Amino acid sequence: MIIAVDGPTASGKGTIAKALAAHFGLPHLDTGLLYRAVGRQVFLNGGNPDDPADALAACTFPESLLDDPELRTEETGGYASRVSVHPAVRAALLARQQAFANQPGGAVLDGRDIATVIAPHADAKLFVTASVSARALRRWMEMKGLGKDVERAEIEADLAARDERDRNRPEAPLRQAEGAALLDTSNLTREMAVATAIALVEKQVAARG
Ligand code: C5P
Repeated sequence: MIIAVDGPTASGKGTIAKALAAHFGLPHLDTGLLYRAVGRQVFLNGGNPDDPADALAACTFPESLLDDPELRTEETGGYASRVSVHPAVRAALLARQQAFANQPGGAVLDGRDIATVIAPHADAKLFVTASVSARALRRWMEMKGLGKDVERAEIEADLAARDERDRNRPEAPLRQAEGAALLDTSNLTREMAVATAIALVEKQVAARG
């Protein structure tokens, strides 16, 4: 069974995807981490994330970079969003994501274009969203937990800019795929969001027969 989970930053899609993977006994891939690794590698190379050649050169990042805690920062998220607009970067990361999705037994993947590009044949598709203010609050608490002192207003502006870029890029823009169930987590606890996600997946799988 392949489960595709898409949505904007801090919508809860990562938490939901992880919980779905545990519930259904499937491996999970956070595809945002791949784009974050490319963004971080551009930074380490002293390159420009808006330059397609610099961004493409960073796609050969070492596997160990995926464990770098710096990948989780807002700064790297901004870099990731900028490198992810380049078609060559998306193409370079495509095979790895598709191989993960199509492994025997299935998988859960979360990102922006899983149900639209990576695995349009997924058995279940969720589009997880939440208001900008709810997402900014979550990200702010996460950053505080990491000991980072950031202004909430700054996070909110950053999220809005990132959304705008992800939704309006010509290549694989963030959007709800046809057949994807919408899950708004703005007013849901983690437990409620996960329970709703499991129910939505079960419903979609049952409907497919
Ligand atoms: O989900 P996360 O915030 O970690 O993703 C970082 C950035 O990577 C996003 O803002 C988006 O631009 C990009 N991304 C993407 N396609 C994916 C996953 C992430 O373009 N499948």
